[in-house]
Amino acid sequence: MSLVARVSVNSAPAVNSSYVVRPSGVHGYGAFATRDIEIGEVIDEFVGERLTHAQCDERYKDRDVNDPHTFLFTLDENTVIDSSVGGNDTRFINHRCDPNCEPQIENGRVFIVAINRIRQGEELGFEYNIGREEDDPDNVDEIYACRCGSPACRGTILWPAKRSRRRKRKSNSGIPTSAI
Ligand SMILES: C[S@@+](CC[C@H](N)C(=O)[O-])C[C@H]1O[C@@H](n2cnc3c(N)ncnc32)[C@H](O)[C@@H]1O
Ligand SMILES: [Zn+2]
Repeated sequence: MSLVARVSVNSAPAVNSSYVVRPSGVHGYGAFATRDIEIGEVIDEFVGERLTHAQCDERYKDRDVNDPHTFLFTLDENTVIDSSVGGNDTRFINHRCDPNCEPQIENGRVFIVAINRIRQGEELGFEYNIGREEDDPDNVDEIYACRCGSPACRGTILWPAKRSRRRKRKSNSGIPTSAI
């Protein structure tokens, strides 16, 4: 089952939100700036149900490996945030290989912060840092093909761009790419 089906619409739009969710040419729905957003501006908090890695593995143990869709965000070695439960509109921010915002972690909370000046109408996107695993299928780069459309697009939303690694379940990550 696609994780899209798990989305619960349980969060009201943020008051004075600087972005809105609408269909995206990158994938499904995306988040778009409703006004210019300055560098360093906090766009919103990324929220959702907090799970241990074990709980998350159990929840998604039957997940189709050919379905790249995920609303998970790895906070650290202990915690995964599942934004399909209790998440807000930040869960619709797509991956970009040339990100204009990034998740910043402060006291265990995740804030999406602009790292470039973002123009009104521009799609928001951050670097997902989705790691590779030993048991990834050979076509994993096709499954996780990136459609961000950037001239800098590396063709996959996985990191690093070439395979070499471990870990079990795919999620966006607050862990710097250098540490993965
Ligand atoms: C948190 S969701 C983002 C919202 C998603 N577009 C939606 O409508 O539900 C993350 C998923 O969106 C897709 N996605 C996000 N960025 C992408 C990109 N640059 N290229 C291809 N698929 C992308 C992948 O399936 C990824 O697992
Ligand atoms: Zn890309």
